[in-house]
Amino acid sequence: MLFPDGYGSGGASLLPFDCCHRLNIERLLSIIDNIARTCHCKPARCSLPISSKQMKFNTKTIHAGQKPEETSGAVMPPVFFTSTYAQEAPNKHKGHEYARVTNPTRTALEQLLAGLEEARYAAAFASGCAAMDALVKMLRPGDHVIATNDLYGGSYRLFTQVFEPFGIRFSFVDMSSIDNVREAFTGKTRMLWIETPTNPLLNIVDIAALAELASNQKAFTVVDNTFASPALQQPLLMGADAVIHSTTKYIGGHSDLIGGAVCTSNDDIYENLAFQTKTTGAVPGPMDCYLALRGVKTLALRVQRSCENARALTEYLSGHPHVAEVRYPGLPGHPGHEIAARQMKDFGGMVSFTLEQDDKQTAERFMSNTHIFTLAESLGGVESLISHPASMTHASIPKDIREAAGLRDSLIRLSVGIEDIEDLIADLDHAFEETVT
Ligand SMILES: Cc1ncc(COP(=O)(O)O)c(C=O)c1O
Repeated sequence: MLFPDGYGSGGASLLPFDCCHRLNIERLLSIIDNIARTCHCKPARCSLPISSKQMKFNTKTIHAGQKPEETSGAVMPPVFFTSTYAQEAPNKHKGHEYARVTNPTRTALEQLLAGLEEARYAAAFASGCAAMDALVKMLRPGDHVIATNDLYGGSYRLFTQVFEPFGIRFSFVDMSSIDNVREAFTGKTRMLWIETPTNPLLNIVDIAALAELASNQKAFTVVDNTFASPALQQPLLMGADAVIHSTTKYIGGHSDLIGGAVCTSNDDIYENLAFQTKTTGAVPGPMDCYLALRGVKTLALRVQRSCENARALTEYLSGHPHVAEVRYPGLPGHPGHEIAARQMKDFGGMVSFTLEQDDKQTAERFMSNTHIFTLAESLGGVESLISHPASMTHASIPKDIREAAGLRDSLIRLSVGIEDIEDLIADLDHAFEETVT
């Protein structure tokens, strides 16, 4: 039997019960009493917490890797506003030396995110872009990356305008065909960069099949899991080597922070990221870590509700006379529907659609006429957002490349929040009336 750290064991990480034979009975009773008081429960109920691995997903979003704060018992980790930590003697400290390297609020977030992605490690970054930047900086000039052709505009900008000039080469490939990906491998391919569902066209990529292909070619598979969130999809369980998140989105869930993270079980990747965190310092502040920790606890509930609303909206949009095409992996006619049904728990809260009148002006008029759907970049918050990828999130992708990938000028992207569905439908109805009549 083991007493877990922080439950009256005096701070020793694990106290083997066997050593108690050396203690007299009074001392033992006093330890048990101390444990009971620290846990605010009777000794008989003070059983070991189940390990994160054994928890189901909803439990993990609240408890994975978490424990009450040691000095006060605070249930939520404090926001450790500090840049440095006192040392008793040089290098004799309580596990933290300097806050660029580690901060306890950040550590709590990293442990929770690792639990949600079934990873051994997570490294938190100042933004999703900083997390992507760190992953690509593991590569060296001459290395080659195969990336989804329909991906977040900021990823495309980072790859082509920051890393290509340093000699890293990228191929942007339609990953709905495995043959396309197979053909794109060169002897120098080190990384496969998957987004699924893709942003903004909501195409689906078969993670397990591509991760196997990459592993046979000795390349890492990275999945940007921002759109699905671990509530719907856990790529490491499908063979991916690393998952990146913009925690700004579903993880935080309240549009009140910017953050990013990489989750992995690969020692080499994690060591490289930890080294980069320490060396280049693109770390999130403790307040943003706290907000992410607070937000993520309702992830499963929020995502479930967003999925329900998104499903109802696709039914409404699919029957609308002014809508040309609705893109949502939950629709049986979607080309990636079967793969999505296999690799996702539900189809997500993102919906894209094009208008019969396929021009930018009509799309812009439509978006200026919604009131509950706020016209804004970003996604994954409790509030519904509407955006125009061609002129907003994906404006940095040249028009010909955008259109070749299927991103038309009238494409409108919805991030469906958790409001009442009747209000969301009424809002779009009103916008159609104002725009098209
Ligand atoms: C799929 C995806 N990945 C990464 C990012 C970048 O994240 P951040 O804005 O936190 O830097 C975004 C931002 O919209 C995104 O949509």
